[in-house]
Amino acid sequence: MNNKLVFSIMASLFVLAAVLAMPGCSSGTPSNTKASSPSAIAPAARETQAATANVKLPDPRLTSNYSLEQAIQERRTVRSFADSPVSIQELSQLLWSGQGITDSSGKRAAPSAMALYPLEIYVIAGNVYGLTKGVYKYVPQGHQLAIVKEGETNAGIMPYKAPVYLVIASDMEKMIKRSGDNGKKFAYLEGGHAAQNICLESTALGLATVTAGGFQDGPIRSTLGIDGSLELLYVMPVGKKNT
Ligand SMILES: Cc1cc2nc3c(=O)[nH]c(=O)nc-3n(C[C@H](O)[C@H](O)[C@H](O)COP(=O)(O)O)c2cc1C
Repeated sequence: MNNKLVFSIMASLFVLAAVLAMPGCSSGTPSNTKASSPSAIAPAARETQAATANVKLPDPRLTSNYSLEQAIQERRTVRSFADSPVSIQELSQLLWSGQGITDSSGKRAAPSAMALYPLEIYVIAGNVYGLTKGVYKYVPQGHQLAIVKEGETNAGIMPYKAPVYLVIASDMEKMIKRSGDNGKKFAYLEGGHAAQNICLESTALGLATVTAGGFQDGPIRSTLGIDGSLELLYVMPVGKKNT
């Protein structure tokens, strides 16, 4: 084999190795699927997966052995949470219960005046098994999370220490435009519907929460990166009850 041929084979192998090392070429994971059920994520990947696109949440379960009546009976406000993670599967279930799309026309888990859906649910994820630490916004279409910011969550400003916080906010202008004086009232009522679903789902999952309406608006707003166009209704710390 002459030198020219050897050089040409080596150059081709180098180019092939470089292409295979590019993100998305070797893992077989769709680039928009940054998370799946915890059991499907390799341990090392849990720490390092970079959230650069929307995070597709695992599908919620639609049945369980835990009855609605049991959840109503056992739901209790909890303000002290264990230092253990919530899983991305549990987070998926909570978000679905609050604002998930539940039929083919796009209607959701909680009722909405004129089906206007003014609510947004933000997630401040400090310790969610299977999800990079950061701030996200729930996108009901496609049951996914849009990344707001990765890394530091500034959870110190939150009402209670918990592995994850759900913040329910509402676009008041949207409601006032259609319902005038009733607009705000409708949005507050809707926030309550969504929050109650999340309370009951938390209970059914063996988790707990508190519907905190008293919190420091400004610092939470800046953590979420939102301006005055949304009103913050509830902060819901979620985790396992500290026993
Ligand atoms: C509109 C509303 C606002 C609330 N705000 C807070 C709050 O800021 N902090 C808090 O610890 N609990 C808050 N709670 C929870 C209540 O204190 C709790 O629901 C009440 O003590 C009854 O207990 P239970 O939820 O276990 O039935 C709030 C509840 C509601 C309905």
